[in-house]
Amino acid sequence: MPIPLFERAEACGKVILLGEHSVVYGHPAVAAGLPQGLCLHAEPRARPDLPITLAIPQWDLDLELRADSEHPVARACLEVLGHCDGPVTGWALRGTTCLPARAGLGSSAALTVALARLVLGQDADLDDVVEASLAGERVFHGEPSGLDSRVAAQGGVLRFVRGAPAEPVALGGPLPLVLLPSGIPRSTATQVAKVRARLERRPTIIRPVLSALAAAVDAGIDAIGRHDLDALGEIFSVAHALLAGLDVSSAALDALQAAALAAGARGAKLTGAGGGGCLLILPPADPAPLLAEFRVHAPLSVEVHP
Ligand code: PMV
Repeated sequence: MPIPLFERAEACGKVILLGEHSVVYGHPAVAAGLPQGLCLHAEPRARPDLPITLAIPQWDLDLELRADSEHPVARACLEVLGHCDGPVTGWALRGTTCLPARAGLGSSAALTVALARLVLGQDADLDDVVEASLAGERVFHGEPSGLDSRVAAQGGVLRFVRGAPAEPVALGGPLPLVLLPSGIPRSTATQVAKVRARLERRPTIIRPVLSALAAAVDAGIDAIGRHDLDALGEIFSVAHALLAGLDVSSAALDALQAAALAAGARGAKLTGAGGGGCLLILPPADPAPLLAEFRVHAPLSVEVHP
């Protein structure tokens, strides 16, 4: 018999509302769990000594988790399993999801959290799950802040500061969001390195930009609590400009952001590491014309509830 796994485990996707990049330097961020997450199922293989397989058709993933594999997903998964004293052979894992991969919506955190829960149980202690997820996230992202793993595990809307317990954020009403995939892949580690390089070159200019992003987080949380969507939209757009000042936007994201505002959005910003990934839009009261305008981008509408 291989080391046992639970039959099924789940994790949320995530969208960073405000505070990406500045969170790396100890400032707060606010992020929401997305119901579009990942569900992993485990079945024993025919023989307990066969390598673990992982198939997630929606992400074009079908691989064996072998110790000598160079595939980052295999390496990350083996780190998570090792961290939790889980099995290294004998299981076939299958994932189902409607979360796009590598779009800044927390796909890797959803995978590492769900995998940790296959070993530890869906109701395992959140801190243990987050620690195990981080063992895998380091393979993908270098030294992540931990925000993605925390939101993938805990869900809801959270104010997060690196190294401190995450605080649930009170919502004054439902928060409608539109996520627009740019279709451009990006590397979180490269984007984080770009910010660090600019901070090192221009500390007196960039430090205040990071502080302004932190102020945007707390102003945004206040607007979320009052359900003042116009204020939140304006804060999103200011945050986009500040993030562009950190060198993490791109011509394509800037063009999409301007087009979203022209189509009536209350505000819009890049979300996550930037450079590609998704644009986060706070839509107007009637989102239909905006959704129609961006149909070709396959926009994802979500409503975050109190
Ligand atoms: O990987 P993404 O796109 O979710 O971005 C992570 C957020 C950053 O603040 C850029 C990095 C981090 O570790 O928090």
